[in-house]
Amino acid sequence: MIEIRTLHPEEAPIAADLHIEGQPGTVLTMLGKEFLTALYREINDSAYGLAFVATSEDKVVGIIAGATDTGALFKDIILRRGIHLVWPVARRLLSKPALLWRVIQTFAYPGKLPERPGDAEFLFIGVSGEMRRHGIASQMLERLIAACQERGARGLLSTVDVTNPRANPFHVKRGFRIIDTFDLYGRKMNLYYLPFTDQPAGEG
Ligand SMILES: CC(C)(COP(=O)(O)OP(=O)(O)OC[C@H]1O[C@@H](n2cnc3c(N)ncnc32)[C@H](O)[C@@H]1OP(=O)(O)O)[C@@H](O)C(=O)NCCC(=O)NCCS
Repeated sequence: MIEIRTLHPEEAPIAADLHIEGQPGTVLTMLGKEFLTALYREINDSAYGLAFVATSEDKVVGIIAGATDTGALFKDIILRRGIHLVWPVARRLLSKPALLWRVIQTFAYPGKLPERPGDAEFLFIGVSGEMRRHGIASQMLERLIAACQERGARGLLSTVDVTNPRANPFHVKRGFRIIDTFDLYGRKMNLYYLPFTDQPAGEG
C-alpha cells in the first residue's frame, strides 16, 4: 500500500537519489548528492518549503517538493544553513568550473518567473523507475496541493523542460495548462499553471 507523508530529514539522501535518478544532467543533479541531501534536509524546516514522500512497505519510492515562494525558500535556506550547502557546491565547482554560470542561473531563476504573489511552485517530483505509472505521482501531487491550499496559495506553477517525455503528459493529465515558455541555460522550458479554485487537479 502506498502512503504519502512528510519527508523526514533522515530520508534526505533517498530523496537526493530519486532526484538524481529522475533528472540526470540538470544543474541541481550535477551539484551532487551531498548538495541535494543538504537541500532536502532543510526544505521542511523552512516556512516556505514543502516536501512529501511516497512509501511502499516502508520503502521511500517517490518524492515531491514545492515552495510557497521559491525565492524566499532559497534565501531562507542559504541564510540559515548556507554553510552546509557552500562546501559541497564549492567542491563541485572546483572540479567543474564550467558549472558556475548554470548555478548562477539556477539560483537567479525565480526572478525569471512572472511575479505571481499567492501562487505556490512545484519544484520537483520523482518516482522510482519500477514504481511509475501506478498513480503515485498523482497521489503526491494531491498532497502537495492540499498543503499549499492550507497555506493560502491560489494555484501552483511548475517549470518543465519541453523535451521531458514523462513530466509534460503528467502535467497535462493532472490539469495544468502551459502559460509561458522561456529559456533556461539554452533549453526551452514550459511554465505550467494549475489554479486551485476553478480547475481541480485531475480534470483535463
Ligand atoms: C513524471 C513522473 C513523476 C510521473 O510519475 P508516475 O507515478 O508514473 O505518474 P502517475 O502514475 O501518477 O501518472 C499520471 C498520468 O500522467 C501521465 N503520465 C505519467 N507518466 C507518463 C509517461 N511516461 N508517458 C506518458 N504519460 C505519462 C499519464 O496520463 C498518467 O496516467 P495513466 O497512467 O492513467 O495514463 C515519473 O515519470 C518520474 O519520476 N519521471 C522522472 C522525473 C521527472 O521527470 N520529474 C519531473 C520533473 S519536474
